[in-house]
Amino acid sequence: MMEEIQYYKTVYDKFWKNQTKRYGYGVYERNLVRLIAHSSPKKVFEVGIGTGWPIGAALKKKGIKVDGCDIAEGSVVLAQKELENTDGIWAGDVMDYKGENEVYDVVYCVRASWYIPNFYKVVKKMISMTRPNGYIVFDVMDKYSKHCLEIQKQALKEKYFRFLGIDVEKRFGQHFICLWRMKRFLKKNGLVYQCWSEREITQTRDLKQTPKVVFCCRKER
Ligand SMILES: C[S@@+](CC[C@H](N)C(=O)[O-])C[C@H]1O[C@@H](n2cnc3c(N)ncnc32)[C@H](O)[C@@H]1O
Repeated sequence: MMEEIQYYKTVYDKFWKNQTKRYGYGVYERNLVRLIAHSSPKKVFEVGIGTGWPIGAALKKKGIKVDGCDIAEGSVVLAQKELENTDGIWAGDVMDYKGENEVYDVVYCVRASWYIPNFYKVVKKMISMTRPNGYIVFDVMDKYSKHCLEIQKQALKEKYFRFLGIDVEKRFGQHFICLWRMKRFLKKNGLVYQCWSEREITQTRDLKQTPKVVFCCRKER
C-alpha cells in the first residue's frame, strides 16, 4: 500500500497536471458540481483535490470555500493558487487530517477513489469530517462493469506472466468497488444515499467506457 501511495506521489505530479485540461469540464463534471453545491454549502472539503480545476474552481465561482488535500505535492501548489487558499489546501493523505473541531457542510472525493487502496476507510474519515445533516459525495468504479472486468482480466493475465517469471510492469489504480457492499456499508454507517450510474448522468450509450457510479449521501446524525 505504501508502495502505491509513493508511486502516486511521483507519478501524479507529472500525469494529472497535464491531463486535467484534456479531460475538460463536461456533462459528468458539471453534474458532480451541481450535486456538491445543491445544499448551498459554505465550506467543502475535497479528498484528492488534484490541481483544483475544474471541480474546485467551479465551486469557488459559486462562492463556496474549498479546502482539500492530495498526496501529489506539485498538484497541491497549483490547487492553492487556483483556489486562492493556502491554509485549507495541504499535501498529504486525508487519513492524517487532524482538524477534529472543524467540520464541513460537504466532503467529497471525485474521480479519485479507484486510486485509493482502502476507500471504505476514507469514506469513514469523510463522514467524521462532515457536520450532522451534511453531505458526502463520491464516485466509484463499479467492479462488475464491463470496463472494470476487462481491466481485472488483464491484471490476472499479468499476474500469471509474473508467476511464469516474465517481467511485466506493475500497475496501480485498480480499486474497484462492489456496489451492494458499498450500499450496505453506507447504511451501516448511518447514511441515507442516492446513486446514479455514469450512463444515467451523461446519457451516453457506451456500455464499455462508463463504469462510474456517483453516490450522494446525507449524514443523519
Ligand atoms: C484523477 S485525479 C482527480 C483530481 C480531482 N479530484 C479532479 O476531479 O480533478 C486523482 C487524484 O487523486 C490523488 N490521490 C491518489 N491517491 C490518493 C490518496 N491516497 N490520498 C489523496 N489523494 C490521492 C492523486 O494524486 C490525483 O491528484
